[in-house]
Amino acid sequence: MIISTHEIPGHIGNRVALRGWLHSKQARGAFAFLAIRDGEGVAQLVCERATMGEVAFEAVKALPLESPLIALGLLRLPEGRSKPELSVESIEATPSAADWPIGRKEHGPEYLMEKRHLWLRSPRQAAILRIRSSLEFACVEFLHREGFHRFDSPLITPTACEGTTQLFELEYFGRKAYLSQSAQLYSEAGIAALGRVYSLGPCFRAEKSMTRRHLTEFWGVEPEMAWVKAEENMRFQERFIRAILSKVATERADDLRALERDPASLLFDPAPFPILLYEEVLESLAALGRDLSWGSDLSVEDEEALAASFDRPFFIYKYPVRCRAFYIEPDPARPELALWNDCLAPGFGEIITGGQRASDHDFLRNRLIEQGLSLEDFAWYLDLRKYGSVPHSGFGMGIERMLRYICGLHHIREAIPFARSPRRCTP
Ligand code: 4AD
Ligand code: MG
Repeated sequence: MIISTHEIPGHIGNRVALRGWLHSKQARGAFAFLAIRDGEGVAQLVCERATMGEVAFEAVKALPLESPLIALGLLRLPEGRSKPELSVESIEATPSAADWPIGRKEHGPEYLMEKRHLWLRSPRQAAILRIRSSLEFACVEFLHREGFHRFDSPLITPTACEGTTQLFELEYFGRKAYLSQSAQLYSEAGIAALGRVYSLGPCFRAEKSMTRRHLTEFWGVEPEMAWVKAEENMRFQERFIRAILSKVATERADDLRALERDPASLLFDPAPFPILLYEEVLESLAALGRDLSWGSDLSVEDEEALAASFDRPFFIYKYPVRCRAFYIEPDPARPELALWNDCLAPGFGEIITGGQRASDHDFLRNRLIEQGLSLEDFAWYLDLRKYGSVPHSGFGMGIERMLRYICGLHHIREAIPFARSPRRCTP
């Protein structure tokens, strides 16, 4: 019977077959110790010359790394050891090419990114990607439980959502079109049909940001809710974050530990996540020696400086209207402020942006004009304010930003199978 590495603990004492790729090997006298990977974990194999026979034993010793193999034997937990091992009786292998290019020696990030299709197999990268998969599922599961419907927005779009300077342009049958920056505008159409919707899909940003947290193609999860105002939206973001972190911490605890990340550090006591007003943030930054003039957005460095002093995610609320996109709802008490928030992860910075969307037709129309955007292109979006407009809010979370925080990654490029940046769109 072929079992997977995660089924090993239930099969001690049984004769089983394990299959995987040869991850490492070491020969010592009459023994060869192999480790194989199967996508879930690593299994230890012990081959003995006397058991396998001379020819088979020598063939195993000569196997290049990454050779796929199926090994049959007895699963044992030797006395005094914590890890079970397979005492191999026979192995069926297909030798891989002998020049596996990823060694134990330190390779630079550029080399590894060039070999990303192979680098993915390293246990660290595989752990990160399993956590990613768990994170995406946790988002979907939580939102369905909360009564959201998945609503898939187009990726080929006629207009900008997040600023015209960051658009990838396409030639679309004789006219210009763009790769979507965010599903938000379409989801706003979705809520009048389905109440609560979310998207989970690629977002594209043509910005030349060479930071450790920007990609040109990332995956966004973007919930949108009818009848919800800015503050309820923030409370919902907090519940969402707590739920997905706790799910991932439980489901992938071993992978997190392998990344030297304590799963418990992703769980928080019930005290609410702090909400800082933008104007309070200016004061905190000034106290850190970082002067920011009213109306400016925080830089990556400002965010990191601020986020260093928190032990849990926190919100920045009520940004000046002038540093936010055209579709914001203004604060009725102070119309120069937007009912808009970011959520920052401790030690990392922005993981979510969200807020209440403008619901008044004429206000939105004026914002479009002020920002030099085409009323014709956005006529459909204005229609949403003509026919049954209600207060509504939503937010967007970058999967890679969240994963970078969860896994404690230095650079966002490890948080997606094949990262796209201004300098790289290969392999
Ligand atoms: O902050 P952003 O630009 O906000 C929006 O797109 C809104 N329309 C979202 C909404 O309200 N539905 O992007 C949302 C999130 C950010 O907080 C960040 O996590 C991630 O998407 N993000 C990026 N991730 C990687 N690389 C980039 N270049 C990113 N830009 C944004
Ligand atoms: Mg943002």
